[in-house]
Amino acid sequence: MALFASLSAHGRRFSAHLKTFWGASQYRRVPRQRKWVALGASLCDNDSMVTNSTIETLLNRRSIRKFVAEPFDDDTVATLETVAQHAASSQYLNDWSAVRVKDPALKKRMSEIGRQPYIAEAPLLYVFVADEHRNAIIAESKGVSTDSDTYGLAGSYRFSQAQNDAVLALHAMETAAYSLGLGCVILGSLLNDVPGLIEALHLPQYTYPVLGLAIGKPDQAPALKPRMPRELQFFDDVYPSDDDATESIKERIGAFDVSVHEYYDLRNTDRPVDAFSDQIASIAAQRMDAAHQVIPNATSQGFRLDR
Ligand SMILES: Cc1cc2nc3c(=O)[nH]c(=O)nc-3n(C[C@H](O)[C@H](O)[C@H](O)COP(=O)(O)O)c2cc1C
Repeated sequence: MALFASLSAHGRRFSAHLKTFWGASQYRRVPRQRKWVALGASLCDNDSMVTNSTIETLLNRRSIRKFVAEPFDDDTVATLETVAQHAASSQYLNDWSAVRVKDPALKKRMSEIGRQPYIAEAPLLYVFVADEHRNAIIAESKGVSTDSDTYGLAGSYRFSQAQNDAVLALHAMETAAYSLGLGCVILGSLLNDVPGLIEALHLPQYTYPVLGLAIGKPDQAPALKPRMPRELQFFDDVYPSDDDATESIKERIGAFDVSVHEYYDLRNTDRPVDAFSDQIASIAAQRMDAAHQVIPNATSQGFRLDR
């Protein structure tokens, strides 16, 4: 009884804390349930999920590929860029940059590389870059030789750190954009031709393109795309890879296949998208050409991924 009283007092304190932290209007308490339920609860398999406006923004995120042709005001651009700069950065290396693609001819070139016409129509278009170029200049100015065999900024770990940081910055910008009622699509398709992209953007040594991000006011309302059962992506303590786990993937993916196959991509409304397992099998059988391959392209940019 004493334990129950203490837990319920703790629960009340936690609720009060949530209220102070998020603001009373930003979450909803479901009457008579003593549970916090996301406004997008249908997306979540747990009836005690908590919510606020950030969570709602993230749960309602979907890729937007058609934008209203309206220019951005400077304040919004500055805000989105500042938010990206405030993402975490491994070892505080700040080892990423982003190129704003503004010139319509260059946007068109990006859309040719990505083979996606909507890239050329993006009101705001960025290419995020893993960037050890700036840090190389700084290190050299402090007497570190970039020619030496022990030069660290070109190695594989730094390469992956810079990629991670660039993705975190891009994701922060994407979330901020959605929170302002804008829409985005991330553009891996720009990596269809890494040498072409490097040339078009004049990317110097020790830089490598990571992803594009197109942002604008949505001119379409796509459905939310389903996600697989949470149990298939979150594990306790260790990765389950025994026979039972393998069987469980095969069994559970069937229902997910059905829900994915019910989804219509607005890029091709004639038919539902392929079942998830068919999409994976098709991608698994694809060979990537040299223009996509990381090792030769990163080597040309001065990285040493064997180190
Ligand atoms: C790393 C990455 C690269 C992507 N590249 C592209 C792309 O080049 N073109 C595109 O239209 N969508 C691209 N997407 C969007 C995905 O297709 C999309 O996120 C996925 O189908 C799930 O749909 P949703 O974002 O609407 O939930 C990319 C997403 C990620 C995370």
